[in-house]
Amino acid sequence: MIEEIRETRKKIEELLTKIDSLEKLENFRLEYLVKKGKIQKFFDELKNVPANLKPVVGKELNELRKLAENFFNDKHAIFKSQSKTEKYLDLTLSGRISWKGSFHPVMKNIDEFVEIFKTMGFSVAESVDIEDEFHNFDALNFPKDHPARDMQDTFFISNDRNDLLLRTHTSPVQIRVMKSQKPPIRTIMPGRVYRNEAISARSLAEFHQIEGLYIDKNVSFAELKATMISFAKRMYGENSKFRFRPSFFPFTEPSAEVDMSCYLCGGKGCRVCKYTGWLEIAGCGMVHPNVLKAGGIDPEEFTGYAFGFGIERVTMLTTGIDDIRLLYDNDIRVLNQF
Ligand code: PHE
Repeated sequence: MIEEIRETRKKIEELLTKIDSLEKLENFRLEYLVKKGKIQKFFDELKNVPANLKPVVGKELNELRKLAENFFNDKHAIFKSQSKTEKYLDLTLSGRISWKGSFHPVMKNIDEFVEIFKTMGFSVAESVDIEDEFHNFDALNFPKDHPARDMQDTFFISNDRNDLLLRTHTSPVQIRVMKSQKPPIRTIMPGRVYRNEAISARSLAEFHQIEGLYIDKNVSFAELKATMISFAKRMYGENSKFRFRPSFFPFTEPSAEVDMSCYLCGGKGCRVCKYTGWLEIAGCGMVHPNVLKAGGIDPEEFTGYAFGFGIERVTMLTTGIDDIRLLYDNDIRVLNQF
């Protein structure tokens, strides 16, 4: 009998390479592994083996069964997983493109702003989008009858107090920073702002600004100019030129608007700069004494400057996008380019 067992073992070992389908494997199982199969038969015959040989034969027989079972289990697992992938695997299909994620151009711009100002010693502060009239207007020295308070520009929120609104600029964060920090203050404040404006290629009702505030003893307009220019040169390149135009904001005095030579034509005049050669990038000025007072800072002791950049404007300039709405259409074909 031991001869037969060894014979069978050899056979099974040969089959190892020959069985290449679930069907053949099933035949193998029926031949060797079922109750009426060859291996069980050997076990049945074991009782006829002389007692002194039983341990040896028994051992070989057990080994044979192990071999056959392992063989079956291994092959079975392999064939099963193959049949699964075959169902889903079509090698004739063309490859699938996996889209790479990236940061939104507006967010990238904000990050660049923040990085540059950080190296100039500015910290970062953020605040709420829903403001009250005090922070958005009163504390910023807006007269009660200023047209910017008008419903046309401001989204008011109806509530019991009737003084809540969606902030129309990031300047109210100046007040909150003044109230929570002591001079010297060097802070930039990025955030989302809201205005009740008709949406067009050049304006949105919801956009981003970055506010800057610097308060210390003897801060001068010259420092404001130097800060704006050295920031902007790092952001837009050494060769860009800047000019300051007198302007008006209730919360700064004197006030200016900052223009940059058009990035596209370099100042010669083109469609982007409306043939002026200049692009408006920010508003700025020396913080009005009334604003310092509202923020709890003594205007006799301290002076300061503030500035505000409109981010989407700048993003349009740096990306060459000429319709601001494209930034928020979430069209993957647009966003993929950045
Ligand atoms: N808050 C102003 C605006 O929204 C910009 C500004 C900020 C101007 C700070 C001066 C100082 O247009």
